[in-house]
Amino acid sequence: PASSAHVVVDLDVSGPTISKHLYGHFAEHLGRCIYGGFWVGEDSAIPNEGGLRLDVVEALRALDIPNLRWPGGCFADTYHWRDGIGPRQDRPITVNSNWGGVEENNHFGTHEFMALCELLGAEPYVNGNVGSGTVQEMSEWVEYLTRDGGSPAVRLRKANGRDAPWKVRFWGIGNEAWGCGGHMRAETYADLAARYATFCRDHDGNRLHRIAAGAADDDLRWTEALMKTVNCLGCTSTPRDVFQAISFHYYTHDGDGIATSPAVEFTDEQHYRTMLKAADIDRVIAGHSAVMDAYDPLRRIGLVCDEWGTWWRAEPGTNKAFLHQQNTLRDALVASLHFDIFHKHAARLRMANIAQTVNVLQAMILTDDDGGLVLTPTYHVFEMNKGHQDAASVPVHVIDGPAAVTVGDDELDVLSVSASTKDGTALVSMSNLALDTGTTVRLDLRGREITAARARILTADKPHAHNTMRAGDAVAPAEFPVELESGRLTAVLPPHSFATVALDLA
Ligand code: AHR
Repeated sequence: PASSAHVVVDLDVSGPTISKHLYGHFAEHLGRCIYGGFWVGEDSAIPNEGGLRLDVVEALRALDIPNLRWPGGCFADTYHWRDGIGPRQDRPITVNSNWGGVEENNHFGTHEFMALCELLGAEPYVNGNVGSGTVQEMSEWVEYLTRDGGSPAVRLRKANGRDAPWKVRFWGIGNEAWGCGGHMRAETYADLAARYATFCRDHDGNRLHRIAAGAADDDLRWTEALMKTVNCLGCTSTPRDVFQAISFHYYTHDGDGIATSPAVEFTDEQHYRTMLKAADIDRVIAGHSAVMDAYDPLRRIGLVCDEWGTWWRAEPGTNKAFLHQQNTLRDALVASLHFDIFHKHAARLRMANIAQTVNVLQAMILTDDDGGLVLTPTYHVFEMNKGHQDAASVPVHVIDGPAAVTVGDDELDVLSVSASTKDGTALVSMSNLALDTGTTVRLDLRGREITAARARILTADKPHAHNTMRAGDAVAPAEFPVELESGRLTAVLPPHSFATVALDLA
């Protein structure tokens, strides 16, 4: 069966800029994300630069990844940065108490992370330890990384082979303080966040963008407690500029809870419940934004979703604590839907980090220890959408769309579209979440003359399709035929598909 849709895109109306940092990533010391994913060590037979796996770096460079959050997650609130500097053979072996109690040899530490960011061309986003670390420890980590002048921390950095300070902008003040980061009340954490942030100084030319650890999902009370710390309703005095952004975390599952349902085997109903959950991040972002608007109408404080993505049951035969899951076309649609929603909220939402880049949760890349590497369907969404980075969002009106699908008590819109313009080009992204209905989409591209269109599609015969070491291209982008005539573009979007159309503007 087929349905049709009529969509209008206003190419000459520029909305808020879609920060490239909405396409950010997250790498935690968890399972095989760092060790076996990014890091193989200098003695590995797998090609590496200074221990960093080169095929992983090369694949990620193609995504133009803007930033990388590290070292956690929950791990961040157990991490003591001094364990991860100096000669590797002298670094202590510690315990990764959140993720399986495995030994952490600390071979990947501050210098290795900064080298990785340099290779990727990504900005570092360092997440400091509030839960079990001191103010002084966090303050000195900032100093170690970013100070130019003399100090004990700077002398230590130089002794470890790095003379010049690095530039570090994004700085996380703890993680999930309501849970693994210390099981705190919002008000307790809000005060701590202000205190820790105060002592994370701007050294020399470096300007920190301090990110307070935010809510789980739609816990708006948490956001409000943090907003009260930086501003108070009705105050005429200058707001206390202690942190510059507030985060929140949002994971997608099929309604049965995180880590419960398998990644590859799912029913039609589970597919739609997953899409409904993914779509609900729209309501969650709108809720946090509304609270922030009340305290900060000029939007000086950014909202950051620094953990998002699907969380399925770990693959059979793997350590459950390692959160290793397959990634299907369904995951790709979760990602494309998130991006449409992120674009819509670009005025307040300034950064987002999918969890996690390699081998953990909704990964871009799966690796094995023999040098095998698989690009997941989610990877391809990031690649196909990269033209939205730092582009101006433009209004999209779905005038007439396919019938919504009823999922329990809810209705799911199965067509999702967003668009942006940048440097004489436009990019339109379209997702068809329906499982058995294709949609003929008529796009009226108003306001600019179009000289050329190139379209690509990501789909497969089933939403369960995924890539493996043996079949790495089961889900991969392909050319997509579209018709363009007098500013009207017609495309037939098959069921469970994601497509992008790149337009050259006169
Ligand atoms: O991404 C996995 C974990 O999920 C993170 O460590 C934590 O912040 C969240 O609960």
